[in-house]
Amino acid sequence: MKLKVAVLFGGKSTEHEISIISAIQAIGYLDTSKYDVIPVYMTKNNDYYVGEDIGKIEEYTHIPQLLGKSTKVIWVKDGDKVSLVRYPQKKFGNNVITTVDIAFPIVHGTNVEDGTLQGFLATLGLPVVGCDVLSSAVGMNKYVMKTVLRDNGIPVLDCKCYTWKDYEDVDGLVARIESSFNYPVIIKPLNLGSSIGIKKASDRESLLEALDLGFEFSRKILVERAIKNLKEINCSVLGDYESAQASECEQPVNSDEILSFEDKYIGGAKGSAKGGAKETTGSKGMASLKRKIPADITSEMRDKIRKMAVDAFTCLGCSGVSRIDFMIDMDTNEVYLNEINTIPGSLSFYLWEPLGVKYNTLLDKMIDLTLKADRENHKVVYSFETNVLEGVKLGGGSKGSKG
Ligand SMILES: Nc1ncnc2c1ncn2[C@@H]1O[C@H](COP(=O)(O)OP(=O)(O)O)[C@@H](O)[C@H]1O
Ligand SMILES: [Mg+2]
Repeated sequence: MKLKVAVLFGGKSTEHEISIISAIQAIGYLDTSKYDVIPVYMTKNNDYYVGEDIGKIEEYTHIPQLLGKSTKVIWVKDGDKVSLVRYPQKKFGNNVITTVDIAFPIVHGTNVEDGTLQGFLATLGLPVVGCDVLSSAVGMNKYVMKTVLRDNGIPVLDCKCYTWKDYEDVDGLVARIESSFNYPVIIKPLNLGSSIGIKKASDRESLLEALDLGFEFSRKILVERAIKNLKEINCSVLGDYESAQASECEQPVNSDEILSFEDKYIGGAKGSAKGGAKETTGSKGMASLKRKIPADITSEMRDKIRKMAVDAFTCLGCSGVSRIDFMIDMDTNEVYLNEINTIPGSLSFYLWEPLGVKYNTLLDKMIDLTLKADRENHKVVYSFETNVLEGVKLGGGSKGSKG
């Protein structure tokens, strides 16, 4: 019997559209001789839809029409069986659309990539491809991620985190930032991606603008030194806690100072609209970004970055495929880990192809790692026989259960 793989995409995230591209591209490469692939679209309101057209990229130019001819579903867990069930249910006939064996989230951004969706799927008892709740959550929070990495000896830029509460006294906040950092600094919303809400500041006036922008997108922001003479290098890692390998390195080429949303997804995609991956998608997604592969770095630097990437992946407890982004300060030749993307755009397949790993093989490996983790999970004891509830009486004046 084929494994029933539900590929989830979209969702309540600023990177909703990018996820549609990444997921539909991947769906085109999943081996249909091994898997029954069920594309599951999550609306911006996190409602779930399935149907014949849900996996077709060209349908997403008119989403209301697409939803009109598709089926809204909910997840139902009954014992060990997980199903997608029509909602609202029809009075007569079968409402179970399909059962699901494994969930493959290809989603980007807060609310979906950050452990939220992974946790929801885990409560259903489904094996979930990729990072678990904790590594997803830590990977999404730029401050927590850097703190954990720094504690494990992986070089990151010194950074500080501020909240809306600090922003209420904006003059005080500016003074605190100026006492910790020299200009230029960079302001980032704590938990977004795709360069949304990120701005560099080279003086007080532009700092105020950058703070306004950052706090528009998040209740918390991160401040760090802006590297003036920057080279960016990304490297993907595939594996789990036992064994992980690094991919080829890429060097994104930016047209702006900050590698923008347009650079990442729009600029390079022009002219590639037809065909795309395996003739099934309309866009190449992250693979269309202007980039150099392999990156223009020495072999020593390549080795160093690939090792740091694997160390960071392991240290954060990641699994599946992640992309880890580095910044080289060209004035000092120092390398800093900038961020980890636990569900990278296009699943970083284009970084594996140069090493001879085809996209379908990459997807197979991700699924195999998940099945292995699921087998291991079944060996762990999660219930514990206890008589603690026997004879319990909750009365007034009780000190509570923790004693
Ligand atoms: N400390 C920094 N100095 C200089 N440029 C930076 C710095 N941090 C980020 N950038 C630029 O901003 C871009 C987006 O920042 P990043 O931390 O990767 O956030 P995102 O999660 O939005 O991708 C980077 O790709 C880089 O071009
Ligand atoms: Mg980035």
